[in-house]
Amino acid sequence: MTRKIPEREIQILAIYGSPRREGNTSLLLDRAVQGALEEGAEVERVVLRDMDISPCMEYYGCKRNGRCIILDDFSPLHDRLLTCNGIMLASPIFFYAVSAHTKIFMDRCQSFWVQKYCIEKAPLQSRNPLRKGLFIAAAAGQGKRLFDGALLSVRYFLDVFDMDLWKSFLYPGIEDRGEILNHPEFLEEALTAGREFCRVLKQVRQK
Ligand SMILES: Cc1cc2nc3c(=O)[nH]c(=O)nc-3n(C[C@H](O)[C@H](O)[C@H](O)COP(=O)(O)O)c2cc1C
Repeated sequence: MTRKIPEREIQILAIYGSPRREGNTSLLLDRAVQGALEEGAEVERVVLRDMDISPCMEYYGCKRNGRCIILDDFSPLHDRLLTCNGIMLASPIFFYAVSAHTKIFMDRCQSFWVQKYCIEKAPLQSRNPLRKGLFIAAAAGQGKRLFDGALLSVRYFLDVFDMDLWKSFLYPGIEDRGEILNHPEFLEEALTAGREFCRVLKQVRQK
């Protein structure tokens, strides 16, 4: 018998990685969040540009207990990152990589890597298929390998949380602030993605 997942049981962190307000990836992630909320998820928005998050300083204080010793706006996210069912991450492409805001956030998650691989000694790249990630990116160019660098980082970032990259939504040829609004089909796609992501998270939880 399958268990019905109660309303609001699925928890998603939506991480906004663009430095600009009303940026393309933020508008797309807003739609994905809307979709997930419609499906009954609880979504916490993490807007990196509004937060005070230091880069990783390689103190390796996390080797003691898997917790980063730098106390700033990253600290309260620790438990939520561990317990959420899914992460929706959105970043512009900057020099073929994720934005600096996004990368700083990812680097601070090294404490989880230390916990998993150094403290718990988990086998490399072991994954818990119950947790998943979704990635949204936009870039001005059109090059064939435009998203390769960011995708590689995102996959390894999600691996730290035992998450598979469920799907990525990549939009080349989008440059100016809000330009994505000229493409209602992309916004619709993001909305549908958010709904579907939540449904998938519910399904894997019910198994
Ligand atoms: C610092 C910087 C670096 C960028 N690097 C690239 C790049 O390597 N390739 C590319 O196609 N676009 C690049 N762009 C353009 C952005 O990816 C593009 O404008 C995107 O739509 C911004 O998304 P946002 O509005 O969500 O911030 C760069 C923009 C900036 C400001």
